[in-house]
Amino acid sequence: MKEKNDELEERFLNPELQNEDLTSKNLRPKFLDEFIGQNNIKNKIKVAVEAAKIRKESIDHIVLAGPAGLGKTTLAHVIANEIGANLQITSGPVVEKAGDLAAMLTNLEKGDILFIDEIHRLNRSVEEILYSAMEDFQLDIIIGKGPSARSLRIDLQPFTLIGATTRLGLISPPLRSRFGIILEMDFYPPEELKIIIKRSASLLNVQINDQASLLLAQRSRGTPRIANRLLRRVRDYIQVNGKNIIEVEDVINTMNLLEMDTDGLDKMDRKILKTIIENYDGGPVGINALASSLGIEPDSISEVYEPFLLQSGFIIRTPRGRVATEKAYKKLNYNKRSFKDNITLWSESEID
Ligand SMILES: Nc1ncnc2c1ncn2[C@@H]1O[C@H](COP(=O)(O)OP(=O)(O)O)[C@@H](O)[C@H]1O
Ligand SMILES: [Mg+2]
Repeated sequence: MKEKNDELEERFLNPELQNEDLTSKNLRPKFLDEFIGQNNIKNKIKVAVEAAKIRKESIDHIVLAGPAGLGKTTLAHVIANEIGANLQITSGPVVEKAGDLAAMLTNLEKGDILFIDEIHRLNRSVEEILYSAMEDFQLDIIIGKGPSARSLRIDLQPFTLIGATTRLGLISPPLRSRFGIILEMDFYPPEELKIIIKRSASLLNVQINDQASLLLAQRSRGTPRIANRLLRRVRDYIQVNGKNIIEVEDVINTMNLLEMDTDGLDKMDRKILKTIIENYDGGPVGINALASSLGIEPDSISEVYEPFLLQSGFIIRTPRGRVATEKAYKKLNYNKRSFKDNITLWSESEID
């Protein structure tokens, strides 16, 4: 875990939360109206919030799924603000014992929202106490061991659980079935990121022209967190150069400094593609083998690097591993070959 963080810390494009993001909470939209894009999801949330208000009930349990940096945590806060509810925050890896979660649940007041980030990382024994808590607002706890063990039932206040995950497929079926609303977020198109960048620029008191914000949007890998981070770097760049407005050349120069290319790929992305092509003849290569060739954690590949490479068509996933596409060969100037030789078609359900 430590190793993973060290290696990611260095990476500018890491879409996961970094220190910088913590000091810039003010960029985070507070209400649905300020939350840009993802209209489908916003509409579903609007309906759920209104319905809960009309019925004077707590809102249904919600899962927010999608790659890091797309706005899951932001949306949890937005939902709480829209409802006017308290938000209690924890995360899957932090809750070690069932008792820890039981303590949080019994402390919730009527209508509170409990946000569990990385909910797919809850361990099974902890997860199991959520079932009756979510379904009946009751906790079933076993006290003692052996013959003297007995079970205790505790009533909870009606609450809403919001779970966030980068890996919807890793949420166990019994847990998943207890969520009423599953919201799958996707990468943002450049036009939406452009609006986010303009909003952030005005909050950061920096001017940016139209073309520059579009270019920045195109290089942000569909991810608001990366867009905001790039914007701050370009702001640094123009300030150092004594300018007061961001123009296209400033974006280009900053990208060059960061070794990012026109597709928004950085050194690590290119290294991943190169390794698949050179060491594994284009794949398929299993995630563990690939991770060890690169000297990084398999989780970093699947959660941090891979989502964008998949989405932009540089690799595909098969049951036997990752395959570099023709687009990847072209990008790195290798001889084009028919990558279809290496794969046959599998159904989605076979793919991990
Ligand atoms: N739709 C959006 N509109 C404006 N800013 C956004 C939007 N989504 C995310 N952001 C910005 O991106 C940052 C990352 O969002 P966050 O909710 O922390 O992502 P996640 O929890 O999915 O990793 C936030 O600080 C916020 O400023
Ligand atoms: Mg988050």
